[in-house]
Amino acid sequence: MAYETLIVETRGNVGLVTLNRPQALNALNSTVLKELKEAYAAFHADETVGAIVLTGSERAFAAGADIKEMQPLEFADIYKSDFISGWDEVAKARKPVIAAVSGFALGGGCELAMMCDFIIASETAKFGQPEITLGVIPGMGGSQRLTRAVGKAKAMDLILTGRMMDAAEAERSGLVSRVVAPERLLDEALAAAEKIASLSRPSVMMAKEAVSRAFETTLEEGLRFERRLFHSLFATDDQKEGMAAFVEKRKPAFTHR
Ligand code: CAA
Repeated sequence: MAYETLIVETRGNVGLVTLNRPQALNALNSTVLKELKEAYAAFHADETVGAIVLTGSERAFAAGADIKEMQPLEFADIYKSDFISGWDEVAKARKPVIAAVSGFALGGGCELAMMCDFIIASETAKFGQPEITLGVIPGMGGSQRLTRAVGKAKAMDLILTGRMMDAAEAERSGLVSRVVAPERLLDEALAAAEKIASLSRPSVMMAKEAVSRAFETTLEEGLRFERRLFHSLFATDDQKEGMAAFVEKRKPAFTHR
């Protein structure tokens, strides 16, 4: 399948999506959204793919929603079409997605990185929600996901001033899980994704569901949800194989069933 704004490939058992609008620092327009949904759907349908890495260029992961596309829009139109709500589908990917972020991750770019399950950043990464400087506010989840990730003080600071934070501050704040040298970024993300892809798919997908639920419910409901998923994994061949392999001191051969 040919993509206009993405490079989509498979590396081993990992689906790799590279945002590819260099002339606009990977600004996210409606074509990027449409193609990203298609790429994710193809990876979800591909049994060999166990995890996805989403990345951009060295200069920019993505510098935000496309301002030039948004500039002429009027309230009634974007309200009626529920503009940008399509990104919810991207956030709901069921296979794990790792964001590998180098350079600018601003506005919708930062929000897209936060839709992923975790973020590995290069030392050059810069995160921010500068929408306030354009006379708007974050619209792809920034006010909610950033606040849950870094807490109220830092989220207010970033969203109200529009300033950028570097990779070290982002790691300190809990927004990113690891920071690596720029030349190591893709290898590090692909290795993490390959590790995930080598594990039992049902347990990986349920682990993702369980952690994601922590952001959506009370502790009591979340604990109950986790326990029910834990119980259900004992119905899988992979639980039998994983535990037998440990006892027999060998590597498990998961069949993802
Ligand atoms: N939308 C459209 N085009 C963009 C863009 C964006 N978000 N960000 C950068 N570009 C374009 C620039 O217009 C420029 O194009 P031209 O060469 O045709 O002029 C090209 O990318 C290169 O950008 P710069 O020349 O500005 O590069 P720089 O190195 O001087 O600055 C930057 C880099 C600081 C990231 C700057 O480009 C910038 O501030 N970009 C906008 C960041 C922003 O405000 N993002 C939030 C968007 S709103 C949003 O995302 C809403 C939401 O939550 C849904």
